Amino acid sequence: MNNYFKRTIGAINSLSALKKAGLLNNPWAVCRLRSALLKKDSLEDLQKLQSAIEVSKMFRSPFDIPDNSVDGLIKFALTEQGMPIGIFPEECHHLICGQTGTGKSTVLKILFSQALRFNRFQNGHPINTEKLRCWLFVKAQDMRTLLNIDRNILVVNFNMIKLNPLEPPPGMRPIEWASIFADLWIQAFRLYEGSKGFLIECLNKLYVKYSSLGYYPSLFDLYNYVTALKFPVISRTARYQESVLNRLGGLIHGSLGSVFDCSKGHISSLINLHAIFEIIYLAAEQQVFMVNYLLSYLFNYKLIHETGLRHFVGIDDANLIFDIAFEKRPDLGLPIIHHLLTTVRKNKINIFACTQTPHQVGASIHSNSFAKLMFSLSHGKDIECMQQSMGIKNLEQKAYCYKLKPREAVVKFSARYQEPFIAIVPEVKL
Ligand SMILES: Nc1ncnc2c1ncn2[C@@H]1O[C@H](COP(=O)(O)OP(=O)(O)O)[C@@H](O)[C@H]1O
Ligand SMILES: [Mg+2]
Repeated sequence: MNNYFKRTIGAINSLSALKKAGLLNNPWAVCRLRSALLKKDSLEDLQKLQSAIEVSKMFRSPFDIPDNSVDGLIKFALTEQGMPIGIFPEECHHLICGQTGTGKSTVLKILFSQALRFNRFQNGHPINTEKLRCWLFVKAQDMRTLLNIDRNILVVNFNMIKLNPLEPPPGMRPIEWASIFADLWIQAFRLYEGSKGFLIECLNKLYVKYSSLGYYPSLFDLYNYVTALKFPVISRTARYQESVLNRLGGLIHGSLGSVFDCSKGHISSLINLHAIFEIIYLAAEQQVFMVNYLLSYLFNYKLIHETGLRHFVGIDDANLIFDIAFEKRPDLGLPIIHHLLTTVRKNKINIFACTQTPHQVGASIHSNSFAKLMFSLSHGKDIECMQQSMGIKNLEQKAYCYKLKPREAVVKFSARYQEPFIAIVPEVKL
């Protein structure tokens, strides 16, 4: 190979390395590159350049430095070079992982505080054509600080609100809603297929009975109806009756009793509101039921009605909802949340899920997230799971995942810029 050829190939390689190292706007590096290309008899400048690139690697992570395509309308962090990183509202689903205290909720707050401002007007005209509505499911009260940004957020702590999970979205036939409700029910309360069939049968009879009265039965009506049914004690149907009554009784006689004591609840008004649902005091199965119910209602409502809204839904501790165990029950079929994640995109619902243990959340969120963020994790299994989920194969990059600094995260987008890169969340007071 002659010297000219060597220099040209070397210069192209250096150009690519400079780009990855984020040194393209460094005058010294560009000058060395130019003279390597122009000088006829020396490779010295190229060697100097290579050593400079190696030295620069010692002061940053082994991840490539992304170009400005990682920026978006809603920003949440900076690259190692201080360039903004953001997402666009139409980019669906986000998975945010990290051990407790690493800043997952803070990133949610950063994203949602901008989403709340998204609808603002300038000189009487909307700044953005698409209207965003924010729903947050949280297990603490700290998201209330978002009220400082927009006072029009409804905080739902399940005291004052009225909900009737048997009330179908307007325009949907009760018989169709009955099977959705039965799915929600058996998944949250981990019942079996037989109980689901029994429940659907009871619901359909009940809907017919109440249709002449002009209102929907409540969970209390369902409880009374199922209690009044008589079956031989040793029959299988009696077992189904017992398990349905058991779960229903627990629900309507527990803390949510007053919430469910209605025929028509507030749910259809919630669609147009920003809301923080504080599910902190609900039992585990009630949390699963409530989140899946509200999301299923939203999804089905938007299937029938054109709202012109995009919903940002943050689930601050998503382990219960996305529990991998739901995917291990073939008799239950696909978990509701899996079905929602794969279909809500069309209905303009973006899910933001936070978890401390990504290896325990089901495949649905891993497979359907546009953006994945990994803050520091302490369990090797979680780190390996996220490395696989984000496609990190480089050994140096893999090792770096074990020593992420505070507020530092590995990010992977599934479009625009597809290599994993480092993001630093700025220090914020929210
Ligand atoms: N970007 C940040 N700016 C300022 N403080 C932060 C930031 N990220 C995390 N913190 C601090 O760390 C604490 C825990 O953060 P949080 O977001 O609640 O973590 P997680 O949700 O992962 O448990 C916060 O109360 C805050 O004091
Ligand atoms: Mg948190």
